[in-house]
Amino acid sequence: MVVAGKRVLITGGASGIGAACAALFRAEGARVVVLDRAPGPDDVRADVTDEGSVAAAVATAVARLGGLDVVVGCAGVSGPVGTPLVDTSAADIATVIAVNVTGQLLLAKHTYPHLSAGGSIVFLASDSAFVSAPGMVPYCASKGAVVSLTRALAVELTGVRVNCVCPSIVDTPMARGDLGDDALDHADFPVQAPEDVAWQVLHLASDRSRAISGHALLADFGYSARSAFPA
Ligand SMILES: NC(=O)c1ccc[n+]([C@@H]2O[C@H](COP(=O)([O-])OP(=O)(O)OC[C@H]3O[C@@H](n4cnc5c(N)ncnc54)[C@H](O)[C@@H]3O)[C@@H](O)[C@H]2O)c1
Repeated sequence: MVVAGKRVLITGGASGIGAACAALFRAEGARVVVLDRAPGPDDVRADVTDEGSVAAAVATAVARLGGLDVVVGCAGVSGPVGTPLVDTSAADIATVIAVNVTGQLLLAKHTYPHLSAGGSIVFLASDSAFVSAPGMVPYCASKGAVVSLTRALAVELTGVRVNCVCPSIVDTPMARGDLGDDALDHADFPVQAPEDVAWQVLHLASDRSRAISGHALLADFGYSARSAFPA
């Protein structure tokens, strides 16, 4: 129960990894407010790309919780995965960057003033910050930016820790939309559950990781550790 009593704001908590984080933090005794553009009944509706919307939603969350100890940035989009960059519209590129990068920056900007001393921000980046497959250029660029903004915020924001998690494929509506149900149901590659990622986030959010800041936690079953050495 390392997060019992913590006041937690989670973006993108209406689905997938964010929903798993909300469920786990609640099960572990935290008080959680979810911010999403498609919220559930008790959630706060907001678009993370719209500064006024983020500011209003954060104010609502802070009023409900009486402050913040943990902020989790899960809201994200994958963009036109599978489409080569030469066939990708500027509008689609702008959307991926707006949600995945600007959304995280606006979240940090508007929550930091309310974060308690020793508070923790955890962003969802991706293994796509480090490795790629064809047809993922804007998404990879956006997740690389999340790793960089994590490190920059860890330096700039005093009194709080800032980290990100970088999971490989997770079985969520996003992954199923990109890869298809069949690929996930009969996967010949390792697939994480949203709950696996929620535990990674919870560790970085809790005081148990108090020495860790500016870190990108790569959780990819060791895939990217393999060299080209033929053995
Ligand atoms: N699923 C994967 O394989 C995987 C792997 C690595 C990282 N991630 C990252 O994890 C995060 C969560 O992804 P997921 O797989 O749970 O996806 P998901 O589609 O299941 O959930 C994403 C949530 O973000 C919300 N959202 C999207 N745009 C928003 C906006 N503009 N404002 C507010 N909310 C918005 C959606 O409504 C949704 O509830 C994303 O940042 C994603 O890039 C996912």
